[in-house]
Amino acid sequence: MPDIYILGIESSCDETAAAVVRSGAKVVSNVVASQIATHQPYGGVVPELASREHLRAIVPVVRAALAEAKQTYASVDAIAVTQGPGLAGALLVGISYAKALAFALDKPLIAVNHLEGHIHAVLLDLREEEREKGHHDVQFPLLALVVSGGHTHLYLAKMRSESWAYDNIGHTRDDAAGEAFDKVAKLLGLGYPGGPVIDSLAPHGDSRAVKFAPAQIKHRDRRKPDAGSPDRIDRPRFDFSYSGIKTAVLRYVEAQGMAAAIEARRKALATITKPGLEDYLAHCDRQTLDLVASFQRAVVNDLVSRTLAAARENEVATLFVTGGVAANRELRKTFEQESANEGLAVYFPSRPLSTDNAAMIAAAAYPKFLAKDWAPLDFSAEAGLTLR
Ligand code: KG4
Ligand code: ZN
Repeated sequence: MPDIYILGIESSCDETAAAVVRSGAKVVSNVVASQIATHQPYGGVVPELASREHLRAIVPVVRAALAEAKQTYASVDAIAVTQGPGLAGALLVGISYAKALAFALDKPLIAVNHLEGHIHAVLLDLREEEREKGHHDVQFPLLALVVSGGHTHLYLAKMRSESWAYDNIGHTRDDAAGEAFDKVAKLLGLGYPGGPVIDSLAPHGDSRAVKFAPAQIKHRDRRKPDAGSPDRIDRPRFDFSYSGIKTAVLRYVEAQGMAAAIEARRKALATITKPGLEDYLAHCDRQTLDLVASFQRAVVNDLVSRTLAAARENEVATLFVTGGVAANRELRKTFEQESANEGLAVYFPSRPLSTDNAAMIAAAAYPKFLAKDWAPLDFSAEAGLTLR
């Protein structure tokens, strides 16, 4: 089997990314242009600005990915692009460019689900020699937790001929875990995006200082019973909920009279172009550090305990944890410790491949390439695309 080079393009949210991956396994180049600076003043992603920035970045980012991989437009075997889920306008920039390239170059075009991309990012980091031999400890069905700014989803993944098939067995009923990190960072005057800042500040606080009751990270189940069979006992689902803990942080801030200190911090940090850990520490008092550490511990414990309960219930032997929040150090450490106790093998992408990138899109496209699962030239963006 000759080497297959797939050019991946990703533009679903606030990163314009392109990458070349060889035979679904080896990242040959991986270029990510972040829009953080554009969205920072607004404390979150502004969809119209995201589309404009993707338009600006897409051509140079693809060129850079090809050059870094020592490939050309003509030499790659296929073009893969994120179809959804994501921001419709942002997705359309990547899709239109990928279609134009595929049409002009007469290459196959492959549409990839962003969430499947996150899951396949894990495979890119399994040990090289195992990858090249084409085998590793991954046992199907496997359980995958995709935990990012937009999703907190649990999938049971199975192999169906060359392709993977997915069964969603749990998701967030309100905020995604990454969204909770971002909102809590914003309300504490720590800027955007919040996950990486909270990750690096948390070890400096006492995670036992603020107690969050389990009820604050639980949500009443408002789903209606199945209309066709109201008495049917559904297989247990493993849902998450993170809006309660965000509100609990807000109540704590109000009760402790922290507003003035937060406003001072917000103003001080806004004057620093690229604040580093020292800058954040210089503007955080003990109470804030303790609150950040306690918040992170509560979210991590909840993610880990629910995911492991799902692993037990479904008797899986392999667990993948992926998506932006999977870059979190405490989350990784806790998953590693707790999974080892249960004899469960847990895999993560490398930290750079945890957050949005295009290598994961090119990797997920490889089984589709083998199956000749081409996208028609008239396919469109699907903001709410689900994974099956
Ligand atoms: O996967 P991703 O890049 O984009 C989406 O598909 O949403 O995830 C971005 C999310 C943001 O909410 C960001 O705050 C969070 O991942 N994140 C982290 C860390 N790095 C990124 N959350 C916790 N700890 C981190 N180190
Ligand atoms: Zn993502």
